[in-house]
Amino acid sequence: MYSLMDEVSDMYNKRLLEYADKQEIFDVKVLNGQYTLDNIATCLFGVETNSLQNENVILINHLKKFFTVDFVKTSISILIVLISTRLASYLSKKGYSFLPSDAVDYTSCLVNQILSRRRQHLERRTDFIQIMVDHEEEMNCQEQEKTLTKSIHTLNDKEIVGQALVFMVAGYETTSVLMSFFFYAMSTEPIIQEKIYEEIRNEIGDNKITHENLHQLRYLDMVISETLRMYPPFIRFDRVASEDYQLGNYHIPKGSIIHIPVYPIHHDSKVWPDPDKFIPERFTSTEKAKRHPMTYLAFGAGPRNCIGMRFALLEAKLGIAKALRLIEIQKCEKTEVPLQLGKFVNLNSTNGIWVRVVRRSE
Ligand code: HEM
Repeated sequence: MYSLMDEVSDMYNKRLLEYADKQEIFDVKVLNGQYTLDNIATCLFGVETNSLQNENVILINHLKKFFTVDFVKTSISILIVLISTRLASYLSKKGYSFLPSDAVDYTSCLVNQILSRRRQHLERRTDFIQIMVDHEEEMNCQEQEKTLTKSIHTLNDKEIVGQALVFMVAGYETTSVLMSFFFYAMSTEPIIQEKIYEEIRNEIGDNKITHENLHQLRYLDMVISETLRMYPPFIRFDRVASEDYQLGNYHIPKGSIIHIPVYPIHHDSKVWPDPDKFIPERFTSTEKAKRHPMTYLAFGAGPRNCIGMRFALLEAKLGIAKALRLIEIQKCEKTEVPLQLGKFVNLNSTNGIWVRVVRRSE
């Protein structure tokens, strides 16, 4: 999948250089949204949306509907889940969904067409759909040769489409939000930005950026963690108690829904001194070892934590490392400091994140 991401990141950088050359200020949320949409669509569905080049407009418009929050509909859905998970499950079986049905139909039809082409071996790519099809063929083969020791479940078409849609919804906006807050942080913290640039020059220089050498960028990793601490895209997640539990003075009955308030935990001054200051050094291994692991929950925790974490970090680091080698991110006349944050469902900046980028001279 790295090669697919690599292609998208080249287009992303081309766009950044265009903004630099035109000396145009821009809302980086839009560009980062195009970057993560193109990445997730190519790596999961095997579709080149090319939204960075304004192509495939019909598909893009449908995909975007998954992320356009209808305040009333989303509030009702959340309320139903909060009141009763049983009611939510009953309604979903009856066909009630807060996802837009026309967009679901369009993308399902598209993924089914792609599945059919792959099964006929008319095309092959290194993406999620191909992994599913290869697995299916391998299992069928083993079944025919009777080498299977136990029966293995392969996903049916509806499940594959469902998985692809879940990945889309969970992975597009989150990574784009991370990258946009990173741009904001760099525009307001030029010394930190310079340290990342130095690290990229020392560790990678002008060599090709690879999966392996991205791991050597330790400081960049710390800056990304600090970005996710200050601006966690998911401001909370939930759990259902699977059994009665006594937590100190609190009795938690089986079946209770527990809300884990990520944003307040990430801004608790008892854990994070000066919580509103951007300090990447909080994430050195020594500092991390001093804290309780549940104080940093950007990707959740436990068996249901984020399964796209490595994908998201790779995607973000690749785009960022390539970009910072070429351009410098600066504040512009429209950069809002401090940012006005919207905290409905996900964290977002209310008025966009406006920046200027300039070409580096060396
Ligand atoms: C910066 C980017 C991302 C952030 C901050 C993020 C954060 C999270 C969080 C907080 C959860 C809930 C975890 C929990 O309940 O313990 C979650 C779940 C999930 N994420 Fe991510 N995510 C990101 C990117 C992605 C990407 C790129 C994908 C897919 C390609 C993805 C797929 C998922 C899925 C499928 C789940 C549900 C897992 C389950 O219920 O077992 N995420 N994510």
